[in-house]
Parts: sequence; C-alpha cells; structure tokens
Amino acid sequence: MVLVTGGSRGIGAAIVRRLAARGTGVGCGYHSSAERAAALVAELGPRVLPIRYELSSENSAADAVAATREHFGKLDALILNAGVWDGGLIERLDHDRWWRVVEHNVGSLSHITRAALPALRSSDRPSILLVSSVVGLIGHAGDTAYGSAKAAMVGFARSLAKEVGQDGIRVNVLAPGFVDTDMTSAVPEKARQRIHTETVLGRFGTADEIATAAVFLSEDATYCTGTVLNVDGGWSL
Ligand SMILES: NC(=O)c1ccc[n+]([C@@H]2O[C@H](COP(=O)([O-])OP(=O)(O)OC[C@H]3O[C@@H](n4cnc5c(N)ncnc54)[C@H](OP(=O)(O)O)[C@@H]3O)[C@@H](O)[C@H]2O)c1
Repeated sequence: MVLVTGGSRGIGAAIVRRLAARGTGVGCGYHSSAERAAALVAELGPRVLPIRYELSSENSAADAVAATREHFGKLDALILNAGVWDGGLIERLDHDRWWRVVEHNVGSLSHITRAALPALRSSDRPSILLVSSVVGLIGHAGDTAYGSAKAAMVGFARSLAKEVGQDGIRVNVLAPGFVDTDMTSAVPEKARQRIHTETVLGRFGTADEIATAAVFLSEDATYCTGTVLNVDGGWSL
C-alpha cells in the first residue's frame, strides 16, 4: 500500500496507474486537480484513494499518511513525487519565488517523512522514493532554485537511508531528465530542440517511462538504498 504525492497528473498519475495494475492500493495525493484524481478512481477502481495534500502543510502530510493507512490497513511505501517548478536567471527571480521552490520541494520532505515513519516501521517491505531531477545533479541555467531543491533531496535521502536502514526501510532517489508533462509544456520550441540535441536518445521521456523506474525502486529493488537512478535518456552524460 503506497502513498503517491502529486498522483493526479503527469509522472505521478503514471506511477499510480502502474501500481494499481499490480494490484497495489494507492493513496493518490492531489492538490488542485480533484477531478483528475476522481477520473483515476473511475479508471482504476477502489485500489485508488484520492487524498488532498498540500506540500507546505505539516497537518496535510499527517492527514495524507493517516488516510492511506486507515483505508488500506497499512502503509508500505511513500513515493514523494509532488513538486513545483519556478525559475529564471538568478538576477531576474526574486527571493520569495526562489525560496518557495526550495521550501515546497524540500521542506515538505521533513513533514511527510516524520508522519510516515511509524507506519513504515510496521511494514515488512518499507521504502521511500523521492522524485528529484538530474537538474539537481548536473545543473541547468535558470534553475538555481529548482536545482538547489532537487540536489538537497539527494542529501536528504542518503542521510535518511543511514538513519532508517536498521528498520529495513529503503530510501532511494529517482532523477528524471526532461519528460513530457504539464511541467515542461511551456518549454519554448527552441529550448526543446536544444534539449533533444543534448539528449543521447534525442527526445523527452514519457511519464510512463519514469513510472516504470519509480515502481522498480519503490517495490522491486530490495537491495537498493541510497541509490540515485538517472532516467534521462542520457541527457546528463
Ligand atoms: N516533467 C519533467 O521534465 C521532470 C523532470 C525531472 C523531475 N521532475 C519531477 O517529477 C515530479 C512530477 O513532475 P511532473 O512533470 O509530473 O509535474 P506536473 O505535471 O506539474 O504535476 C505536478 C504534480 O504535483 C502536484 N502539486 C503541485 N503543487 C502542489 C502542492 N503545493 N502540494 C501538493 N501537490 C502539489 C500536482 O497536483 P494537482 O495537479 O492536483 O495540483 C501534480 O499532481 C516533480 O517533483 C518534478 O519536479 C519532472
């Protein structure tokens, strides 16, 4: 039984579909897309429980964990996929917008992890997966905020892995490259062509290609912890 944040759209929705296809019960976190979360329930059935979740709220994190645990009777894994992007060259991005990206993407990890650990300790196959980005590993102009946040997720995960490994809890990181979702829909055509050229496989990834790797790390990779898996078509090579 897994709680997927940001499950209403894009990569998160693809993860929800892949988990449900395996028969896994999924708490599907959504923020503003209640209709999309409801559509996933209509498509996938009662294995999916829509749960409203706000990245910046400690109470919301505790409620999301509790709702998943109560509905399915247990919690085996967290997939922390919800994220926000904002960017621009450092001198054009004011500090409030810069900090919001860091706070939402990183501050949220502390709340939800703390809320979930007691339940995860009761599972016989517990794991936490963080959806970061290769931007946090190799950098990208215009992404000092997003890159900082996504890099911090790696430090968080590797430190947490060392804290909770003794409880059998695995903590891993997925680092996608450029993926066709709403988050990248505004990338201008010129930048899109540049990224295609820089990417060994010559294209953006699909949400489902990222979901395949997410489910592998979350459910199948039982000897992986502290791992950072790049799924980027070779963009970071
Ligand atoms: N797309 C890419 O190229 C790419 C590359 C590398 C890494 N990533 C990472 O992969 C993850 C998913 O990206 P995506 O492309 O699928 O994004 P997306 O299409 O923009 O979807 C974002 C998801 O996060 C949820 N969300 C947004 N703000 C939230 C908030 N304040 N509180 C709780 N949930 C919130 C959204 O919920 P609602 O729709 O309900 O509001 C939605 O489900 C993100 O962490 C992103 O940084 C994406």
